[in-house]
Amino acid sequence: MNKEEIIKKAEKYIEQLHQHDTTGHDFNHILRVRHHALDIAQFEEVDVFVVELASLLHDAVDKKLFKDTTTAWEQLNLWMNDVQISSDIQEEITHILKFMSFNGGKNNGKLTSLAGKIVQDADRIDALGAIGIARTFQYAGHFKEPMHISTYKARDLTTLEQHQYHDEPNTAINHFYEKLLLLKDMMNTERGKQIAQERHAYMENFLEQFYKEWDITKKTN
Ligand code: ADP
Ligand code: NI
Repeated sequence: MNKEEIIKKAEKYIEQLHQHDTTGHDFNHILRVRHHALDIAQFEEVDVFVVELASLLHDAVDKKLFKDTTTAWEQLNLWMNDVQISSDIQEEITHILKFMSFNGGKNNGKLTSLAGKIVQDADRIDALGAIGIARTFQYAGHFKEPMHISTYKARDLTTLEQHQYHDEPNTAINHFYEKLLLLKDMMNTERGKQIAQERHAYMENFLEQFYKEWDITKKTN
Protein backbone atom coordinates (compact mmCIF):
# COMPACT_ATOMS: atom_id res chain seq x y z
CA MET A 1 0.00 0.00 0.00
CA ASN A 2 1.41 3.45 -0.81
CA LYS A 3 1.45 6.35 1.69
CA GLU A 4 -1.58 8.04 0.20
CA GLU A 5 -3.62 4.84 0.46
CA ILE A 6 -2.52 4.29 4.07
CA ILE A 7 -3.64 7.83 4.98
CA LYS A 8 -7.04 7.28 3.35
CA LYS A 9 -7.43 4.00 5.28
CA ALA A 10 -6.40 5.73 8.51
CA GLU A 11 -9.04 8.43 7.98
CA LYS A 12 -11.75 5.77 7.60
CA TYR A 13 -10.51 3.73 10.58
CA ILE A 14 -10.38 6.77 12.86
CA GLU A 15 -13.65 8.30 11.69
CA GLN A 16 -15.35 5.07 12.72
CA LEU A 17 -13.46 4.78 16.00
CA HIS A 18 -14.41 8.30 17.15
CA GLN A 19 -17.90 8.41 15.62
CA HIS A 20 -19.90 8.35 18.87
CA ASP A 21 -17.55 10.53 20.89
CA THR A 22 -19.08 13.27 23.05
CA THR A 23 -16.00 13.95 25.20
CA GLY A 24 -14.42 16.56 22.92
CA HIS A 25 -12.42 13.90 21.04
CA ASP A 26 -14.62 13.45 17.99
CA PHE A 27 -13.37 13.05 14.41
CA ASN A 28 -13.33 16.82 13.96
CA HIS A 29 -10.78 17.09 16.78
CA ILE A 30 -8.61 14.58 14.92
CA LEU A 31 -8.96 16.52 11.64
CA ARG A 32 -8.01 19.80 13.36
CA VAL A 33 -4.98 18.18 14.99
CA ARG A 34 -3.88 16.91 11.59
CA HIS A 35 -4.34 20.38 10.14
CA HIS A 36 -2.23 22.04 12.86
CA ALA A 37 0.41 19.31 12.72
CA LEU A 38 0.86 19.64 8.95
CA ASP A 39 1.01 23.41 9.33
CA ILE A 40 3.79 23.16 11.97
CA ALA A 41 5.61 20.47 9.94
CA GLN A 42 6.19 22.99 7.12
CA PHE A 43 8.63 24.77 9.43
CA GLU A 44 10.51 21.62 10.54
CA GLU A 45 12.74 18.95 8.95
CA VAL A 46 10.48 15.98 9.53
CA ASP A 47 8.86 13.00 7.82
CA VAL A 48 5.46 14.45 6.94
CA PHE A 49 3.95 10.98 6.47
CA VAL A 50 4.73 10.06 10.08
CA VAL A 51 3.33 13.40 11.26
CA GLU A 52 0.09 12.90 9.35
CA LEU A 53 -0.35 9.26 10.36
CA ALA A 54 0.42 9.96 14.03
CA SER A 55 -2.04 12.91 14.05
CA LEU A 56 -4.81 10.68 12.76
CA LEU A 57 -4.04 7.86 15.21
CA HIS A 58 -3.08 10.00 18.21
CA ASP A 59 -6.19 9.35 20.36
CA ALA A 60 -6.81 5.75 19.23
CA VAL A 61 -5.59 4.17 22.50
CA ASP A 62 -6.24 7.01 24.97
CA LYS A 63 -7.24 5.73 28.41
CA LYS A 64 -9.66 8.65 28.88
CA LEU A 65 -11.65 7.39 25.90
CA PHE A 66 -11.19 3.63 25.91
CA LYS A 67 -11.62 1.71 29.15
CA ASP A 68 -9.95 -1.36 27.77
CA THR A 69 -6.64 -0.02 26.48
CA THR A 70 -5.15 -3.50 25.96
CA THR A 71 -7.80 -4.23 23.35
CA ALA A 72 -7.39 -0.74 21.86
CA TRP A 73 -3.63 -1.37 21.39
CA GLU A 74 -4.30 -4.83 19.92
CA GLN A 75 -6.74 -3.36 17.42
CA LEU A 76 -4.35 -0.59 16.46
CA ASN A 77 -1.47 -3.04 15.97
CA LEU A 78 -3.68 -5.30 13.87
CA TRP A 79 -4.69 -2.33 11.75
CA MET A 80 -1.08 -1.17 11.29
CA ASN A 81 -0.07 -4.69 10.17
CA ASP A 82 -3.08 -4.93 7.93
CA VAL A 83 -2.18 -1.77 5.98
CA GLN A 84 1.47 -2.86 5.94
CA ILE A 85 3.07 -0.01 7.84
CA SER A 86 6.83 -0.69 8.14
CA SER A 87 8.09 -1.87 11.52
CA ASP A 88 10.22 1.31 11.98
CA ILE A 89 7.19 3.53 11.53
CA GLN A 90 5.03 1.27 13.71
CA GLU A 91 7.62 1.65 16.46
CA GLU A 92 7.65 5.42 16.14
CA ILE A 93 3.85 5.62 16.17
CA THR A 94 3.75 3.43 19.28
CA HIS A 95 6.30 5.65 21.03
CA ILE A 96 4.35 8.80 20.10
CA LEU A 97 1.00 7.45 21.29
CA LYS A 98 2.51 6.24 24.57
CA PHE A 99 4.11 9.51 25.55
CA MET A 100 2.34 12.43 23.90
CA SER A 101 -0.54 12.76 26.37
CA PHE A 102 -0.31 15.40 29.12
CA ASN A 103 -1.11 12.73 31.75
CA GLY A 104 -1.05 15.24 34.60
CA GLY A 105 2.52 16.19 33.60
CA LYS A 106 3.80 12.63 34.14
CA ASN A 107 5.01 12.23 30.55
CA ASN A 108 7.19 15.35 30.61
CA GLY A 109 10.44 14.80 28.73
CA LYS A 110 9.62 11.26 27.57
CA LEU A 111 8.63 12.08 24.01
CA THR A 112 11.75 12.05 21.82
CA SER A 113 10.35 11.84 18.27
CA LEU A 114 10.20 15.18 16.44
CA ALA A 115 7.05 14.05 14.60
CA GLY A 116 5.58 13.29 18.03
CA LYS A 117 6.49 16.72 19.38
CA ILE A 118 4.76 18.31 16.41
CA VAL A 119 1.59 16.25 16.91
CA GLN A 120 1.71 17.04 20.64
CA ASP A 121 1.83 20.78 19.85
CA ALA A 122 -1.06 20.37 17.41
CA ASP A 123 -3.10 18.51 20.04
CA ARG A 124 -2.34 21.23 22.58
CA ILE A 125 -3.41 23.96 20.17
CA ASP A 126 -6.81 22.25 19.89
CA ALA A 127 -7.02 22.27 23.71
CA LEU A 128 -6.73 26.10 23.65
CA GLY A 129 -8.81 29.02 22.39
CA ALA A 130 -12.54 28.94 21.73
CA ILE A 131 -12.44 25.29 20.64
CA GLY A 132 -10.41 24.36 23.71
CA ILE A 133 -13.00 26.00 25.96
CA ALA A 134 -15.87 24.25 24.18
CA ARG A 135 -14.14 20.85 24.38
CA THR A 136 -13.48 21.28 28.09
CA PHE A 137 -17.13 21.95 28.88
CA GLN A 138 -18.22 19.07 26.66
CA TYR A 139 -15.79 16.75 28.46
CA ALA A 140 -16.99 17.94 31.88
CA GLY A 141 -20.63 17.36 30.87
CA HIS A 142 -19.87 13.91 29.51
CA PHE A 143 -18.15 12.85 32.75
CA LYS A 144 -20.79 14.56 34.90
CA GLU A 145 -18.44 17.17 36.37
CA PRO A 146 -19.87 20.55 37.41
CA MET A 147 -18.72 23.55 35.39
CA HIS A 148 -17.66 25.49 38.49
CA ILE A 149 -18.32 25.60 42.21
CA SER A 150 -19.85 28.69 43.73
CA THR A 151 -17.93 28.54 47.00
CA TYR A 152 -14.75 27.84 45.10
CA LYS A 153 -13.12 31.25 44.90
CA ALA A 154 -11.30 30.49 41.68
CA ARG A 155 -11.17 34.20 40.89
CA ASP A 156 -8.50 34.65 43.53
CA LEU A 157 -6.62 31.50 42.64
CA THR A 158 -4.30 32.04 39.76
CA THR A 159 -1.68 29.33 40.04
CA LEU A 160 -1.80 25.57 39.94
CA GLU A 161 -0.18 25.41 43.40
CA GLN A 162 -2.94 27.54 44.92
CA HIS A 163 -5.54 25.32 43.33
CA GLN A 164 -4.01 22.17 44.70
CA TYR A 165 -4.76 23.33 48.24
CA HIS A 166 -8.45 23.13 47.43
CA ASP A 167 -9.68 19.56 47.54
CA GLU A 168 -12.80 20.39 45.58
CA PRO A 169 -14.09 17.89 43.02
CA ASN A 170 -13.00 18.29 39.40
CA THR A 171 -14.70 21.08 37.55
CA ALA A 172 -14.39 22.39 34.00
CA ILE A 173 -13.00 25.67 35.33
CA ASN A 174 -10.42 23.83 37.43
CA HIS A 175 -9.13 22.16 34.27
CA PHE A 176 -7.93 25.55 33.04
CA TYR A 177 -5.60 25.76 36.04
CA GLU A 178 -4.45 22.16 36.12
CA LYS A 179 -3.66 22.06 32.42
CA LEU A 180 -4.90 24.56 29.84
CA LEU A 181 -3.20 27.71 31.15
CA LEU A 182 0.10 25.83 31.49
CA LEU A 183 0.26 24.71 27.87
CA LYS A 184 1.63 27.90 26.29
CA ASP A 185 4.91 27.39 28.18
CA MET A 186 5.13 23.72 27.23
CA MET A 187 5.07 24.02 23.45
CA ASN A 188 7.86 22.26 21.54
CA THR A 189 7.97 24.33 18.32
CA GLU A 190 8.20 28.06 17.58
CA ARG A 191 5.14 27.92 15.34
CA GLY A 192 3.19 26.11 18.07
CA LYS A 193 4.25 28.64 20.70
CA GLN A 194 3.05 31.54 18.58
CA ILE A 195 -0.44 30.07 18.06
CA ALA A 196 -0.68 28.95 21.71
CA GLN A 197 0.05 32.46 22.97
CA GLU A 198 -2.82 33.97 20.99
CA ARG A 199 -5.23 31.30 22.18
CA HIS A 200 -4.02 31.63 25.77
CA ALA A 201 -4.89 35.34 25.77
CA TYR A 202 -8.37 34.51 24.47
CA MET A 203 -8.92 32.05 27.34
CA GLU A 204 -7.80 34.58 29.93
CA ASN A 205 -10.39 37.01 28.61
CA PHE A 206 -12.99 34.26 28.70
CA LEU A 207 -12.22 33.46 32.35
CA GLU A 208 -12.43 37.11 33.36
CA GLN A 209 -15.86 37.46 31.78
CA PHE A 210 -16.96 34.06 33.15
CA TYR A 211 -16.15 35.11 36.73
CA LYS A 212 -17.93 38.44 36.28
CA GLU A 213 -21.10 36.67 35.19
CA TRP A 214 -20.73 33.85 37.73
CA ASP A 215 -20.29 36.23 40.65
CA ILE A 216 -23.77 37.71 40.11
CA THR A 217 -24.99 35.26 42.77
CA LYS A 218 -21.98 35.56 45.06
CA LYS A 219 -22.86 36.33 48.66
CA THR A 220 -21.25 39.50 49.94
CA ASN A 221 -21.78 38.83 53.68
P1 ADP B 1 -4.23 14.92 26.30
O1 ADP B 1 -4.01 13.56 25.76
O2 ADP B 1 -2.99 15.76 26.36
O3 ADP B 1 -4.97 14.90 27.63
P2 ADP B 1 -6.46 15.18 24.51
O4 ADP B 1 -6.38 15.45 23.06
O5 ADP B 1 -6.79 13.79 24.91
O6 ADP B 1 -5.11 15.65 25.22
O7 ADP B 1 -7.58 16.16 25.06
C1 ADP B 1 -7.70 16.53 26.35
C2 ADP B 1 -8.86 17.49 26.37
O8 ADP B 1 -9.96 16.87 27.03
C3 ADP B 1 -8.55 18.71 27.23
O9 ADP B 1 -7.89 19.69 26.53
C4 ADP B 1 -9.93 19.12 27.71
O10 ADP B 1 -10.62 19.83 26.74
C5 ADP B 1 -10.56 17.78 27.92
N1 ADP B 1 -10.32 17.34 29.31
C6 ADP B 1 -9.44 16.40 29.74
N2 ADP B 1 -9.54 16.25 31.08
C7 ADP B 1 -10.51 17.10 31.51
C8 ADP B 1 -11.10 17.41 32.78
N3 ADP B 1 -10.74 16.81 33.92
N4 ADP B 1 -12.09 18.35 32.81
C9 ADP B 1 -12.49 18.95 31.68
N5 ADP B 1 -11.97 18.71 30.45
C10 ADP B 1 -10.99 17.79 30.36
NI1 NI C 1 -6.28 14.72 21.06
